[in-house]
Amino acid sequence: MFGKRKRQVVGCDVGSSAIKIVELKPLKNDEFQLVHAAVADLSPEAIVDGAIMDSSLVVEALTRLISENGIKNSKFGGSLSGHSVIIKKIQLPSMTETELAESIQWEAEQYIPFDINDVNLDYVVLETGASDTMDVLLVAVKRDRINDYTSVIVQAGKEPVLVDVDVFAVQNAFESNYSSRGETVALVNIGASVMNINVLHDGNSVFWRDVAFGGNLYTEAVQREFNLPREDAEKLKLGGDVGQVSKQQVESVLSSASEDLAAELQKTVDFFVATSSVDRLDRIMLSGGGALVANLEAVLHERFQVNVELLNPFRNIRYNESDFDPDWINRNAPAMAVAVGLAIRTVGD
Ligand SMILES: Nc1ncnc2c1ncn2[C@@H]1O[C@H](COP(=O)(O)OP(=O)(O)OP(=O)(O)O)[C@@H](O)[C@H]1O
Ligand SMILES: [Mg+2]
Repeated sequence: MFGKRKRQVVGCDVGSSAIKIVELKPLKNDEFQLVHAAVADLSPEAIVDGAIMDSSLVVEALTRLISENGIKNSKFGGSLSGHSVIIKKIQLPSMTETELAESIQWEAEQYIPFDINDVNLDYVVLETGASDTMDVLLVAVKRDRINDYTSVIVQAGKEPVLVDVDVFAVQNAFESNYSSRGETVALVNIGASVMNINVLHDGNSVFWRDVAFGGNLYTEAVQREFNLPREDAEKLKLGGDVGQVSKQQVESVLSSASEDLAAELQKTVDFFVATSSVDRLDRIMLSGGGALVANLEAVLHERFQVNVELLNPFRNIRYNESDFDPDWINRNAPAMAVAVGLAIRTVGD
């Protein structure tokens, strides 16, 4: 135990549009050095609504990523989000750790909308104040969903040693790169199919929600507007040229989708403000590939009147410019937040 360095896990974020992998090496002073960072696109039929529909496509892409990047570390950490994850803060009468361990299953049953036997339950005591109650954070993830994601890692020849939740992985990446003391910050991770929201107040996570809104809705809007196949619409969204469609035409479709996303986020923020003692946000930190869509930052700034920033999970991470192209790192940084957050973790933590 003593003197023995804990082993980092390889952060493996299997998203519905792409697999992102990050490996870090701890340096002195709590700093990290980048060892591996890579992305492999997945075809849209591989994962739908968070469910792995074609595991061979995912295994194939992951296996290729591992071999092309020469990833030797066998310990992998994965992450989940969406419908299969329930995060709740519950208040219980004060009790000892042993009492809590004995009663948590039963307590959780009242808050989890799934059969308690079908979920993996995790919990952490947030606060035991002077009062006779304590706040407990409860995280329940459907076991079959965990099995689907871990078995992909196993089939790719690696050992899944931990499964996290996207909102907490993003928080991990944020905390190792930024400070938010005294502020209320919304971490908004926008993927292809889901937007993960985590509100931090004075450094503590106080609200979580996954909303089914992501980059796919932009692509679908472009598809509908110009009557194009999905691939062409995706290309237009990313700034490419297709036929006679002008940049301005595309921008106007994307802007209106960003307005829809902002309205969706507003609903969540309004709900948070109405149900908490916090009355406003100070900052929005965007991550996920979907955050890169033209003018989303401006649209959110306009609506919420707060600073909106792209989260750079590599901000405090060192890397050799001869090993990693800084342009590639900067372009992909926001989409790597979950993978970086996982890669910060160690085996058994
Ligand atoms: N430069 C860009 N401009 C606009 N959209 C982009 C850009 N780069 C990536 N995206 C979009 O970001 C999305 C992918 O982001 P990300 O990799 O975070 O999602 P994911 O993790 O695969 O999805 P999910 O978590 O929802 O399952 C896609 O919809 C993609 O089109
Ligand atoms: Mg994702």
